[in-house]
Amino acid sequence: MKTMNFAPKIALALLAAAAAFTMSGCGEEKKPEPVKKAEAPPPPSIEIKIGHVGPMTGGIAHLGKDNENGARLAVEEANAAKIKIDGKDAKFVFVGEDDQADPKVGTTVAQKLVDAKVAGVVGHLNSGTSIPASAIYNQANIPVISGAATNPKLTEQGFKNQFRVVGRDDQQGPAIASYMAGDAKPKTVAIIDDATAYGEGLANEVEKTLAAAKIKVLPREKGTDKTTDWKAILTKLKGKKPDAVFYGGMDASGGPLVKQARELGIKVVFAFGDGACTDEMAKLAGDAAEGLLCSQAGLPVAAADKKFLDNYKKKFNADPILYAPFTYDAANLLIEAMKKANSPDPAKYLPELTKIDYKGATGQIAFDDKGDRKDAEMTIFTMKAGKITPVAVIKGGKTTPIADFIAAMSPAAPAAAPAPAAPAPAAEAAKAPEAAKEAPKAEAAKK
Ligand code: ALA
Repeated sequence: MKTMNFAPKIALALLAAAAAFTMSGCGEEKKPEPVKKAEAPPPPSIEIKIGHVGPMTGGIAHLGKDNENGARLAVEEANAAKIKIDGKDAKFVFVGEDDQADPKVGTTVAQKLVDAKVAGVVGHLNSGTSIPASAIYNQANIPVISGAATNPKLTEQGFKNQFRVVGRDDQQGPAIASYMAGDAKPKTVAIIDDATAYGEGLANEVEKTLAAAKIKVLPREKGTDKTTDWKAILTKLKGKKPDAVFYGGMDASGGPLVKQARELGIKVVFAFGDGACTDEMAKLAGDAAEGLLCSQAGLPVAAADKKFLDNYKKKFNADPILYAPFTYDAANLLIEAMKKANSPDPAKYLPELTKIDYKGATGQIAFDDKGDRKDAEMTIFTMKAGKITPVAVIKGGKTTPIADFIAAMSPAAPAAAPAPAAPAPAAEAAKAPEAAKEAPKAEAAKK
């Protein structure tokens, strides 16, 4: 009965095999557990959100994107630089918002950024959005730096967290008004604005300067930031025969204004502030834009740091339009202050931002006790062959022709020294200064 004796043994062997199969999961031989070495934990990292706000849609979306690109480039460079904050790998996260250049949307997206717990904000572009939004950032104690908003009120509210890296309209208004007065020598000037905080505020500053120079200013005409049909206002103004016209507003409305003025046979000098001091004016108005005068509340794009300009072009396949170098600096200032404080906590890095002295793409940056940029420059331009071309820089009340300003900026090459390998930062801006000097005269001669 050998078989009888074997049967339980076979059954037991089968059971053992089945158990081994089940335990190993799929019948594979169970590998011995590797001996765990004391592995180094991944380096601790810290996520730091940097917000940017500007108009990404609507008539001035090109300017909003220009600003956003500047801030985005700074954030990407900071990530590539592998910065450590508080011993941790800092991972900067760019949070972009669209305020549509609308004050109400501006406050909504400001609150959105606060809720997203951004450590700092670059923006907004328009004074009309920046001023109402500033109260929200102030309440949340979040540092905010505008690279474009010029209305004085922004930094006159006593908010310790509010900064700007461009100049103010109580510098810009006198600068463009004085230049226009000296260049066109008008007896009577018409002023139009777009009824925004920026346009109206700048127009008021221009009017004050002209009135102080005993130049007659016609009663104010008003449009909106969406106006593109100016014919009724222009027809009325034509009858009053002004010798020059100033418009406080952005390029999207300023382009059609100067185009329609020329169509109606108004040949006098047109002058604009920074919002309409872009090549977009020539795209919108064509030849009608030639010879216009305008101001920017900082140095020209072409005078920005060459490395920044090269990197910007490489990344975005375009040159900056207006204030991208300033929003680039604004984002870098936030990051630099965090590095100095070794913390992204606004309460800890705000004191560092307040006393910062930083060499940015737009020059040396320090803030006064209101949060305004110390020693901000103003640049006057004229439209020449479809490009805004710098004519003069105004700093500390002193007007310097662009060529002289650039010569003073560039380090003098020592005698017999070899030519520098790279052009000086402002070399681009120097390309057409002589032509630029002639342009306003040509425009005035049209009268
Ligand atoms: N400087 C312009 C403003 O303040 C863009 O709205």
